[in-house]
Amino acid sequence: MRLASRMSILPPSGTIGMLEIARRMEKEGKTIIHLEVGEPDFDTPSHIKTAAMRALEEGFVKYTESKGLPELRSAIASRVKEKSSCSVDVDEVIVTPGAKHAIFCALLALLEPGDEVVITSPTWPTYKDIVRFTGGAPREVPLSQDYSLDEEAIKEAICEKTRMVILNSPNNPTGGVISREEMKAVVDLAVDHGFYIMSDEIYDDLTYDGFKQTSILSFEEARDISVLIHGFSKSYAMTGWRIGYAVAPREVVNAMSKIQQNTTTCAASFVQKAALEALRGPQDFIEEMRREYDRRRRALVKALNEIDGVHCPTPKGAFYVFPDISAYVKDSETFVERLLKEKGVCVTPGKAFGLGGEGHIRISYAASMESILEGVKRIRELLLSMGGR
Ligand SMILES: Cc1ncc(COP(=O)(O)O)c(C=O)c1O
Repeated sequence: MRLASRMSILPPSGTIGMLEIARRMEKEGKTIIHLEVGEPDFDTPSHIKTAAMRALEEGFVKYTESKGLPELRSAIASRVKEKSSCSVDVDEVIVTPGAKHAIFCALLALLEPGDEVVITSPTWPTYKDIVRFTGGAPREVPLSQDYSLDEEAIKEAICEKTRMVILNSPNNPTGGVISREEMKAVVDLAVDHGFYIMSDEIYDDLTYDGFKQTSILSFEEARDISVLIHGFSKSYAMTGWRIGYAVAPREVVNAMSKIQQNTTTCAASFVQKAALEALRGPQDFIEEMRREYDRRRRALVKALNEIDGVHCPTPKGAFYVFPDISAYVKDSETFVERLLKEKGVCVTPGKAFGLGGEGHIRISYAASMESILEGVKRIRELLLSMGGR
């Protein structure tokens, strides 16, 4: 079968290979410590599940408006206003089956072949892979050593072909965050040079040490040039429900909606009802989950930095750490495979996260404290057995 040539552009997920080995080992009866997961280890709160079940029982099972239920878009607009003080019209909101689909629609709607998109690196791979898939050219710009934004590097990367800068704070895979001042600097550049900003703020409820994430929409001058990406997966432990959203200027939302009309039609109707309950119902779950992540984050960073030669910046957001293990490891894929086969611990190789990722691993702390501490113990054993310092 001859596939379309564009398929050669799209690589498989960088983590799938390792997971397949892990699953095979589990089938053979081995116990694996999973620290590669990109989703909360908490269950969806029960009031949200009840709302979905109620919707099903009431027969709420038909297509909805392609952009999403008006009452859900209105609740999203209110949530965005709470966070950014930006008044958003429901026509500037589109609900999608997951934030990932919002990213896909937005990039397809905005990029021309050859357009350059500046992406900080290490980066969540979807951004660069989908930019390439649309014919655009990702331009990876390294983050600073502590995973903060390097404004100078971004300035240097901007040229007449730059159509967009993608920001992701709190960040996957580093857990690093972008401060208000740093964001403002990018907004100023965007206004001066006339490019879009896509700001993926899906982890903004999960921040630590008193850090509060500034939303791109809190800058008046960014409102006409920004696409905010968000969703329910991380804040409400709803990864499998597939529901997310974007807030963007009306023309962009309309263009994204045309793509959605012709691909998925809409997000699942009863899932939209559940998402509405997530926004309108009690919010204490988020704080409880955040506190538990914080406890694990501190323990994990401490344990990693106690390994001689390992450097792990303290992340202020999300549920990942991204330690530098380059004193021992030059090829993160080989290391991760050995870690899995010899020690039964699954993490993600830094190489999967672009140019800035090699020599690192991503460890998720969306796992029990016991698994985290045992996992680090085994990582330490393997690193020390390799020498290299
Ligand atoms: C930065 C970032 N954005 C978006 C997503 C996807 O979210 P969703 O489950 O809503 O598609 C992820 C998932 O890992 C992510 O890490």
